[in-house]
Order: sequence, then structure tokens, then C-alpha cells
Amino acid sequence: MKKTFYVTTPIYYPNDVPHLGHAYTTIAADVLARWNKLHGNEVFFLTGTDEHGKKLANTAEKAGKKPKEFIDELIPEFKSAWKKLNIEYDRFIRTTDKDHEKIVQQILQKCYDSGDIYKGEYEGLYCVACEAYYTEKDAPDLICPIHEKPLEKLKEESYFFRLSKYQDFLLDLYKKNPDFISPKNRRKEITNRVKEELRDFSISRTSFDWGIPLPFDKKHIAFVWFDALLNYYSATQSSEKLKKFWPADVHIIGKDIIWFHTVYWPAMLKSAGLSLPKKVFAHGWWTINSKKMGKSAGNALKIDQLISIAGADSARYFLLREASFGDDGNFSEEMLIERHNNELANKLGNLISRVSTLAEKYSLQEKKGVALLPEKLKIQIGEHMENLEFDKALHIIIKFIDQTNEYLQDKKPWETHDSNVLYESANAIKDIAILLWPFMPETSERISKTFNFNISLEQLNAPLKISKIKKSEILFKKI
Ligand code: MSP
Repeated sequence: MKKTFYVTTPIYYPNDVPHLGHAYTTIAADVLARWNKLHGNEVFFLTGTDEHGKKLANTAEKAGKKPKEFIDELIPEFKSAWKKLNIEYDRFIRTTDKDHEKIVQQILQKCYDSGDIYKGEYEGLYCVACEAYYTEKDAPDLICPIHEKPLEKLKEESYFFRLSKYQDFLLDLYKKNPDFISPKNRRKEITNRVKEELRDFSISRTSFDWGIPLPFDKKHIAFVWFDALLNYYSATQSSEKLKKFWPADVHIIGKDIIWFHTVYWPAMLKSAGLSLPKKVFAHGWWTINSKKMGKSAGNALKIDQLISIAGADSARYFLLREASFGDDGNFSEEMLIERHNNELANKLGNLISRVSTLAEKYSLQEKKGVALLPEKLKIQIGEHMENLEFDKALHIIIKFIDQTNEYLQDKKPWETHDSNVLYESANAIKDIAILLWPFMPETSERISKTFNFNISLEQLNAPLKISKIKKSEILFKKI
């Protein structure tokens, strides 16, 4: 039976066009989805937009539009950005989708019925940019630590979710499922915070109406995070054939939203009697001059700008190669160009161009039992992919490209015209292209056309079939 694999990105606030930070998570999810497809798994890859809440209502108002009207204009920007980056998601969910709204109300009702929701009054601090509550302990100077903007003071009637009740449950969950919070260092951080204090959180607002009404008290609308997190569940309930994907294998998120995903989210699910996701992986931030890249900081690189540097596949490659997935990375155009030139144009591009040119002239000859790529390396790559260590997986592939280039340098088939050597190199190219496909699908597909193989696991494990090969077009232009 086929294994199922369900991967998600956060749903992004469509208050502006998407930027490199959003692309990072979405590319990573696409890479994992493709890696799983390559392995014959049945994949559901979900992304989308988080459309309710104060932040969106304010932004739309400033633009002189109704929230839905304002957002509808931005959705094509997200969809076309993902298309340009070669991202193949299965559903783009919007929290204004009717099927989602219905599920949110159902779950709210379930939590209410289980006694986990009660009415009270919220008095405290709020950051609209985060759509999050703060205490004076988290923000003693009343400034949001992430957005560096003054916090709003709120005082209003509100329903609360009994998070405090779930302290033991959460600690037990982290202990029994060490990968639930990944990477490791984040688990310690969250565990300590949960041990320290777990307060009930406010889940409804009455001072504006852009949201989903609580089913048991319609003058309240659901707190945007309660609504948003449920997208991961509601997307699997919209048709019978999607139900089997629940719960998610991995929620990929940025470290800014780890508390919501590893504390609120499992407690909400437990309260509603639903099963829990297997893993939440929080990656680091892309910074520019040590400042988090984003709309609020005014330093965001838009998707078109990112692609214009060296193309979509080079951008995908760079983002996953440059920084370890759990750590921050400093973005620079120079570094992207350097990796594009040195690793993609010089190493990979030259290998393809050299071997395809010679293969067109001298043809290949099959040599039995030869594979340049050791089994051990394939296993290591698989382990790194399992752990979302994309940089390490790419490192091994690039090293293998180096070895293949060295092998050619050593055997000099352009002097010897040795068709066995050419065959071995073409075989190595097949393996490289298949392993690189999740990262650079367009490039790999071009290579597969030149050397006439399919991108599949069977082809990775089988020798290349001899065929007529034509010189490849240039894959990466040096910049
Ligand atoms: N709408 C919420 C998420 C709800 S999920 C149930 C949200 N949206 S957001 O538009 O602010 O996007 C946040 C996500 O974008 C981060 O978690 C991260 O995945 C990505 N990034 C945004 N800026 C980023 C960087 N500078 N660097 C890396 N990723 C960042 O929060």
C-alpha cells in the first residue's frame, strides 16, 4: 500500500505581495513533497492565505477597500509567485473558503462542549502585526519584540480557551515524541516555557467583525489564530479522498510562530478529540544586515526580484543550500550569484555540457555493474531529507558532482574517446539529476530530456538505457 505524506506551510497574511521569507517555507515544503512523490508516496501539499483578523481589516481600510475585495486582488499574486518558483501545491486554502469556515465553527463548538471555552474579560497587550497577545513580562517596554512597534492596550469581553489545563498533556507529548518539535534546540525552549507558565488565551474579539462568528455567541468573532491553525485540518475534510491524509506528517513554519503551532495547536486538537500532527519544524529567518526580512521592516525582497537574480531554480537551490534549515541566514545577492556561478554553472552546468557534447560525438557503451554513486550516499541523502537537513543533502550531491568531474579529468574521454567512461559519467548525471529534482525540478527535467531517462526512483536504481544523445543547451548562464 502507498504511504501518504501530508505537508503544510503556514497560511500567509495576504496584506501585501509575498516575499522571500514566504518563498523559503513554501520551497522547502515543495522539496519535501517532491521527494516523497519521487519515492512513490501519495502526497498532499497544502498552502494558502490567512485572511481574517485585525491586521487585514486595517490594511484593507487604509486602501479604501472592503477586506474581501482587497484580498481577492492579492491572491493571484501569491498563486503566480508560487508558479514562477516551480511550486506544485495540491490545494491553496483561503480562510474565507466556506468549507473552512464551517469546520472552524464545528471545532469551536466541540471545544465549547468539552468545557474548554469560557467567557471572561481580556485586559492586556496586543500586537496587530503578530496578531498575538503579549504580557508585560514578554514586552516590558510595551514594544513588540518582533515588530519593534508599540503594543495596543485591549480591554474587552472575550471567550477564553483553557490552555492551562493542558500543561501536563503538552509536556508529556514533547517527551514521548522527541521529534514533535524540531529542530531539537526549539524543543528545549518550548518545554521550558510551558513548564514555567501556561495561561488560558483569549479566542474571541468583539471590537471588529472581520472573522468567523462563534457558533455559541454570534457577536464574538474567532481569534484569527484559532481560525487559521484549523486550516490544516479543514483542508483534509473537504472531500472523502483527502481524509486519509490527516494528521499532517510535518507542518513547516518559521520560528516566529512556533508557540502557536506547538502549544495552542496540539491543545486545541486534543480538546476537540482529534489526532495530532507528527512533526512541527521551525526554520530560521532570512535577515538582511541582521534584521529579519519582512514587510514591517521594509526590507522584503519580492519574488520577482528574487527570481530576476539568477532564475527560479537557482533561487530555490541557494535558499536551501546557504543556511541550515533550523538556523537564520543572511541574504545577499552576491552570495546567490556566487553559488549560481560556482556550483551550478561551473560544476553542474559544465559536467552536463561536457558529457553531452562528447556523447553526441562518440556515443555511449554500456558497462555492466558500474555505478559511480555509492549506495551509502543515497542512504545518507535520504536520512538528511527525512530530518529536513536540506543543506547537508545538497552538500553530498555537490560533492558527487565534483567527484564525477574529477573522474572525467582523470580519464580524459575527449582524448581517449572511451565510450565506457562516457557511459559511466552519463549514469552519474542521471543519478544527480534525479536526486536534484525536488530542489531544481526545471533543471532536472531538462537534463533528463537530454540523456533520455525518467525522473523516478526506478531509474535512480537502474542503469541508464543507451540512447542517442544530443549536446545539451546551456543550463546556467554565468552572471
Ligand atoms: N498567518 C500567520 C500564519 C498562520 S499559520 C496557521 C503568519 N503569516 S505571515 O504572513 O506573517 O507568514 C509567516 C511565515 O512566513 C513565517 O512563519 C515563515 O514561514 C515565513 N517568513 C516570513 N518572513 C520570514 C523571513 N524573514 N525569513 C524566513 N521566513 C519568514 O504568520
